Amino acid sequence: MTISVHRLHESLGAEIRGIDLSRPLDDTSFATIATAFLDHQVIVLRGQQLPPERHIALTRRFGNPEIHILEQFHLVGHHEILVLSNRKHADGTPVGLEDAGRYWHTDVSFWPEPSTASLLYSLEVPPEGGDTMFTNQYAAYDALPDELRRQLDGRRLLHGLNRVVAPKFTDEQLARVVPVSHPAFRTHPGTGRKAVFAGAFAMGIEGMTDAAARPILDALYAHCGEDRFRYVHRWRAGDLVMWDNRCVLHHATPFDPAYARHMHRTTVSGGRPI
Ligand code: SIN
Repeated sequence: MTISVHRLHESLGAEIRGIDLSRPLDDTSFATIATAFLDHQVIVLRGQQLPPERHIALTRRFGNPEIHILEQFHLVGHHEILVLSNRKHADGTPVGLEDAGRYWHTDVSFWPEPSTASLLYSLEVPPEGGDTMFTNQYAAYDALPDELRRQLDGRRLLHGLNRVVAPKFTDEQLARVVPVSHPAFRTHPGTGRKAVFAGAFAMGIEGMTDAAARPILDALYAHCGEDRFRYVHRWRAGDLVMWDNRCVLHHATPFDPAYARHMHRTTVSGGRPI
């Protein structure tokens, strides 16, 4: 089958057709995915059969799979996969992380070396809602209002967690996350382009009081999530969506909990943002 790439939104996102992820990737397919990933920041492959072994093997083509701190939601037998799900075991305990990421964020930016990429595969989706929204942070950088650019140029943001953004972390897991600083504007190592690196885990500005930082962070958060930078992915079962955490924020939307939403996520280990 011919491989083709189709833009999904004027700001970011592309669908790749003609690749079957259930089989090992040949070099042409891998090169198409890798190029589209850098060019479009979010890529979508629909109608895929992706058992855990293939999902992990695909992830390894892009780097080392990360082991998420929420070990209670690892897929049994495959600790590289984090289960995002509202399903329950027979005893009522959750199968996976429910309500994950219902705010703009970039995955695990609370670590010194946040993930480069995330690969999310849908097994079961509700008939409506439960979308994932993505915003282009190169575009957010390019369109920064002068005042915000002046306030943040050369600054570092303090990324961390609290109970509001991490309600399912145990006390011990939360204690392991020590706030870390990253540049407010990072340079993407693959494209050389500048992007805003912020989101809900960015809770302070180095060298500023909380009172001074809060209005700046709130204005930045609102700017980065604007509609004009945004692609909304409406899931079907069998979608594999891969996004670039170095230049994209994402945000899950609510859905009727009477329906199941069940997904497998891997992330690729990253380097220190510069
Ligand atoms: C996440 O990776 O933050 C969750 C995304 C989603 O469930 O749509």
